[in-house]
Amino acid sequence: MRQRHSDYMNWAKTQSRARFNLATSGVGSFPLSELPHACERLDINGDSTYGYAPLQEAIARHCGVHPGCVVAAAGTSMANHLAMAALLDPGDEVLIEHPVYELIVSTALFLGADVKRFTRRPENGFALDPAEIRSSLTSRTKLIVLTNLHNPSSVLAPETVLREVGNLARSVGARVLVDEVYLDAVYENTPRSSCHLGPEFVVTTSLTKVYGLSGLRCGWILAEPHLAQAMWRLNDLFASIPAHPAELLSVAAFEHLGLIRERARRVVEADRAALSEFLDRQTRLSAVRTEWGTTSFVRLRGEPVDSFLGRLREKYETSAVPGHFFEMPDYFRIGMGVNHEMFREGLRRIGECLNDSV
Ligand SMILES: Cc1ncc(COP(=O)(O)O)c(C=O)c1O
Repeated sequence: MRQRHSDYMNWAKTQSRARFNLATSGVGSFPLSELPHACERLDINGDSTYGYAPLQEAIARHCGVHPGCVVAAAGTSMANHLAMAALLDPGDEVLIEHPVYELIVSTALFLGADVKRFTRRPENGFALDPAEIRSSLTSRTKLIVLTNLHNPSSVLAPETVLREVGNLARSVGARVLVDEVYLDAVYENTPRSSCHLGPEFVVTTSLTKVYGLSGLRCGWILAEPHLAQAMWRLNDLFASIPAHPAELLSVAAFEHLGLIRERARRVVEADRAALSEFLDRQTRLSAVRTEWGTTSFVRLRGEPVDSFLGRLREKYETSAVPGHFFEMPDYFRIGMGVNHEMFREGLRRIGECLNDSV
């Protein structure tokens, strides 16, 4: 039986919210009213077939690629689905990182792929380790999938390591799919996209997590032109054309992307500083500390995470994402960048909940 659901997405949509919501993954919403002249340019229909040319060009400029390498998709969600659907046939072997954003595995299983895993070891700071990939790679491997920044830990894979992964993939004729939806949350010296590292790299991303523009569903795939063409053709079976008002607003957003990113940066950085101070004081919590990213993956000792998060929600009106959704049940994920007052109070409540445990 193929997998036809995502337990994580269902939980995120129906149960993740709380008064002090630390179960987020992206920054707070960017309001339409702060996007200059956006509404004056709105229309319902436009000239969109295999992409809307002004948006294709804006994405290509932003990523430093030719527009022929860009495939627009509804968020990184649909970009991941479309990319995997184009790259995998039923039974194909796909090597996916662990711990992982659950939708990547669910989607590969839905597509009938033979899912194998490689580990990003907690004792190794969740680093991407080519040796782990090498030991799981076979001549049947068609695709290696990873996130950069890593969701849930926000750990960054350096370009040298990504190149090694690319070499491994090339040695068996496989490709590397890198989900870069969090990469622009490296605010200083933002690394360039791994799409520049070679034709075996296929990249997915969007304006959701780091820009607060989730509602636009402005996502895309970067791939070499003949593969991009194949993806556009496959997309005809999924999505026909996007909502044109969203395309127009996305073009407007690209004109002010620097400003949009900076707006959220202040909150992300204030939250990270508060989290760091908080973790310094906790003996039962530990996390890999990163200087970037909108999520932190925290290990809890001395109590099952699900019972802790249950009490945190019931008694302290605070939520975080249970680690079992990332196949790491001793952890929970905290999200930064939405509202600093809410975040500080959420942390304070986590502290109280820890004091109040068995
Ligand atoms: C790694 C990863 N990829 C993709 C997505 C979905 O992104 P989008 O909102 O752009 O569809 C998420 C959302 O949490 C994510 O964490």
